[in-house]
Amino acid sequence: MTRTLLLNSGPHGQASHGYQLAAEMLAELGLSQQQLVERDLLASPIPPIGRDYVLAVTSGASAEAPALAWSETLISELEASELLLIVTPMHNFAIPATLKLWLDHVIRIHRSFESTPEGKIGLIKDRPTLVLVSSGGFHTGPRARQEDFLTPYLRYALASIGIRNVHFVLLQGLVFGPDAVATAVDAARDVLRAQLEPFKRQAQGALTAAR
Ligand SMILES: Cc1cc2nc3c(=O)[nH]c(=O)nc-3n(C[C@H](O)[C@H](O)[C@H](O)COP(=O)(O)O)c2cc1C
Repeated sequence: MTRTLLLNSGPHGQASHGYQLAAEMLAELGLSQQQLVERDLLASPIPPIGRDYVLAVTSGASAEAPALAWSETLISELEASELLLIVTPMHNFAIPATLKLWLDHVIRIHRSFESTPEGKIGLIKDRPTLVLVSSGGFHTGPRARQEDFLTPYLRYALASIGIRNVHFVLLQGLVFGPDAVATAVDAARDVLRAQLEPFKRQAQGALTAAR
C-alpha cells in the first residue's frame, strides 16, 4: 500500500486550485482515501515553536519528552509515507507561515538531520515529492515581476532532511480572472502529467511489494 502524506497549507483548504489538482493526481495514480493521510495545516493548526521545545532540543531531551510530541507526530507521519504532496500558496514571495511551522517541527537535529563539519546530513528516506505552488502573480517566465524565495527555500529545506526527489508544479497568475485561472490550471495539469512517472513507479512498486 502506497501511503501518501498530503500537506495543505493554504487558506482555501480543499477549494484551492492546487488542492484540486492534487486530488486529480491521486485519482490518476489510483490511490484511495485509505492510503492518504491529509494534514490541513490551517484547519488543524500546529502550535508555534515555544520555549519548552527549544529547551528540549538544545538539552538533547529524549524523543518521548512531552515538548517534542508534535515534532514526533509530524516526523513519524512523514516517515510512514512513500509519497509526499505539498499544496502551498505563495505568500509574500515565500511559503506561508503554516508550512514554515511544519518545517520548524520536522527539521530537528539528531532526529531528521545530523550536523557534521561538512554540513547537514538528512536522516529521512528520500521519496517522490510533489509541490503544487499557487500564486496570484508570476514569479518565473516572461511575465515574472517578483522574486521567488519559495521554490529554492523549500527545495533546500527538504534536502536538509534527505528529501531531494522534489518536483514543483506552478499555478501562476491566479488573480487575473477566470480565463487566466483556466489557463494556469491547464498548463499545470500538463506539467504534472509529464512528471507523474516517479510517483507511478513508487505507487506500483509498493503494490508489487504488498503481493
Ligand atoms: C498574505 C498573502 C500574500 C500573498 N503574497 C503573494 C505573493 O508574494 N506573490 C503572488 O504572486 N501572490 C501572492 N498572494 C496571492 C496568493 O498566492 C494566491 O491568492 C493564492 O495562491 C491562490 O491560489 P489557490 O486558490 O490555489 O490557493 C498572496 C496572498 C495572500 C493572502
